[in-house]
Amino acid sequence: MTRLLIRGGRVLDPAVDMDQLADVLLEDGVIRAVETGIEVRGAEVLDAAGCWVAPGFIDLHTHLREPGQEYKEDIASGGRAAVAGGFSAVACMANTDPVNDDPSVTDFILDRARQDSPARVHPVAAATKGLKGVVMTEMSALRDVGAVAFSDDGKTIMDTGVMRNVLEYSRLVNVPVIVHAEDRTLVGDGVVNEGPVSTRLGLPGNPAAAEDIHVARDLTLARLTGARLHVAHVSSAGAVLLIRRAREDGIQVTAEVTPHHLTLTDEATLGYDTNTKMAPPLRSRADVEACRAALAEGVIDAIATDHAPHAVHEKEVEFNEAPPGILGLETAFPVVLDLVRLGELEPLELMRRMSTAGARILGVSGGCLAVGQPGDVVVLDPEGRWTYDPAKGYSKSRNSPWAGQELTGRVIATVVGGNTVYHSDRGVLVG
Ligand code: DOR
Ligand code: ZN
Repeated sequence: MTRLLIRGGRVLDPAVDMDQLADVLLEDGVIRAVETGIEVRGAEVLDAAGCWVAPGFIDLHTHLREPGQEYKEDIASGGRAAVAGGFSAVACMANTDPVNDDPSVTDFILDRARQDSPARVHPVAAATKGLKGVVMTEMSALRDVGAVAFSDDGKTIMDTGVMRNVLEYSRLVNVPVIVHAEDRTLVGDGVVNEGPVSTRLGLPGNPAAAEDIHVARDLTLARLTGARLHVAHVSSAGAVLLIRRAREDGIQVTAEVTPHHLTLTDEATLGYDTNTKMAPPLRSRADVEACRAALAEGVIDAIATDHAPHAVHEKEVEFNEAPPGILGLETAFPVVLDLVRLGELEPLELMRRMSTAGARILGVSGGCLAVGQPGDVVVLDPEGRWTYDPAKGYSKSRNSPWAGQELTGRVIATVVGGNTVYHSDRGVLVG
């Protein structure tokens, strides 16, 4: 029998609103006890004094790039980056090559993940073939092999009739649809938030209205169909307002926001750093504040990284030409810990948005430290300081706006299925 005792930490279990000093005992891969003063023989002991002990983080939005773009990331490197960032599970987006629009691709990803990834991997399948927004994928077949959600992320389904059908079918197979909400006709060539910053930079703007309008459309369709809609990477105050109202009206909508949209404004782009280019773009101070308030209120349920690796040569080009997206897995915790330091979120609520919410939205295990649950746990030092160097991280890519910065908040250990797969002293610990 394998036993791991995580001793003396501040246990934060959002699933049962627990916030107290306790020990956590894992036995044979599952949580066996959460109590004070656990004494057992023959257990490996992890000293968590001064640390937080929470359910392993669950990322709703990761791009693992395999199959097809392994020079940016693959399931092995992305899985390592995940556990180094405290994530015991990630949902991976379908914009791979080939696109994950067929059960054979979903199967391939799950197979690779079992062999190569220390983190659990939950595939998100495409909603339409080839992400083209025209022909729906075979949702029940994809669900049956393990797809946990459907999304054309990276692209937007512009045809409203197709989106209606996607939502109708998703309801029949009881799987949520994750929407990347940007009206492409309004985005146009836009590469940075439309406003004073785009003017100063002399770059084409992408207006917040592109997001607001698309969110309004999809909320209307969610009401019409009764489907479960999940809005990815909310970035605008307008979208927040619409989602808040929809929830008040009883529409089944959930939402996520990224660490970057919570902490950076479009002013970060003033130096033309392509590591501040993403879709949707960084927005104004007022948008950031609206996202933060919505997260605190619970109108936005979850923090999701949108970990989007791109190679150095792809990002070292003119701003207009660079692909959108930044790394997120290895920096998410310290970046969002700022919200706790500023008094905007209690630690327990931060853990809910990093873990429990994702499990609930996707209907996967984890996000909870109840006895009998899978032993997926993260141990965090909220005071730990370190300097982030993407070259020393686990991702294959380096595209981060936090490169070289000193960050506060460290992952001490990540445990998946009762096995310590990452420890800050020893690094990633599996094959
Ligand atoms: O910034 C982004 N990068 N947004 C997306 O929707 C796609 C992603 C990517 O795949 O690189
Ligand atoms: Zn997206």
